[in-house]
Amino acid sequence: MAPDRLLVALDVESLADAEGLLARLDGVVTGCKIGTQLFTAAGPAAVEMARKRGFRVFLDLKFHDIPNTVAGATRETARLGVFMLDVHASGGVAMMRAAAEAATRAAQDFAVPRPLVLGVTVLTSLDRRALQQEVGVAVSVDAHVLHLADRARAAGLDGCVASPREIGPLRLALGPDWVIVTPGIRSSPRTDDQTRVATPRQARDAGADYVVVGRPITAAPDPAAAAREILSRLA
Ligand code: C5P
Repeated sequence: MAPDRLLVALDVESLADAEGLLARLDGVVTGCKIGTQLFTAAGPAAVEMARKRGFRVFLDLKFHDIPNTVAGATRETARLGVFMLDVHASGGVAMMRAAAEAATRAAQDFAVPRPLVLGVTVLTSLDRRALQQEVGVAVSVDAHVLHLADRARAAGLDGCVASPREIGPLRLALGPDWVIVTPGIRSSPRTDDQTRVATPRQARDAGADYVVVGRPITAAPDPAAAAREILSRLA
């Protein structure tokens, strides 16, 4: 896997913290993921800062709303010049289609590259029990991930976010061009709030296109060294 396939999750509370982290990762990592914590704290300035420093950005705001609202949010996300964004696949085909179409239109209107639009399948923090008893989905995690990814493809999305454990079946069902992004990467037994985890090498071998790693890098005493170690496993 090429080094630019590692995206570091900038789950920090301020623009200054994000900038400090990127300064330490400069020359090691080329991509980052900005999620709801940093975006709520710092807004589009966070994307601008990362792009100015030469990092490409996956803006992970997981939109889940009515189609018109998601289309508008997708348009504004594309305008920021991010290379990838996501919506919840459980929002339905009409909602996902609205996002895919909005991304295409925004790319034309704002003369930016069209971002990849991904569908979030089942959060990597959920296990079978939580999916069944709390979310109310009676099938297995694998079956539900495959179902949502299939609907995402029908809606015209480019790929999906899933745990490393579902990559194999996803690749088989959706083929080589389907973009698979996976968080839930852990090298040690410590999993934090994630339940469906795998090591960097397992994710690579299963066929992930991008891996998202947060705390194993951002909470390490030396984030650059931690990123280098993970990159060596992905190579
Ligand atoms: O710190 P950690 O490596 O667990 O971070 C994983 C990142 O991936 C977090 O930013 C989280 O929001 C995100 N994510 C996830 N599961 C998904 C989609 C995104 O953990 N299904």
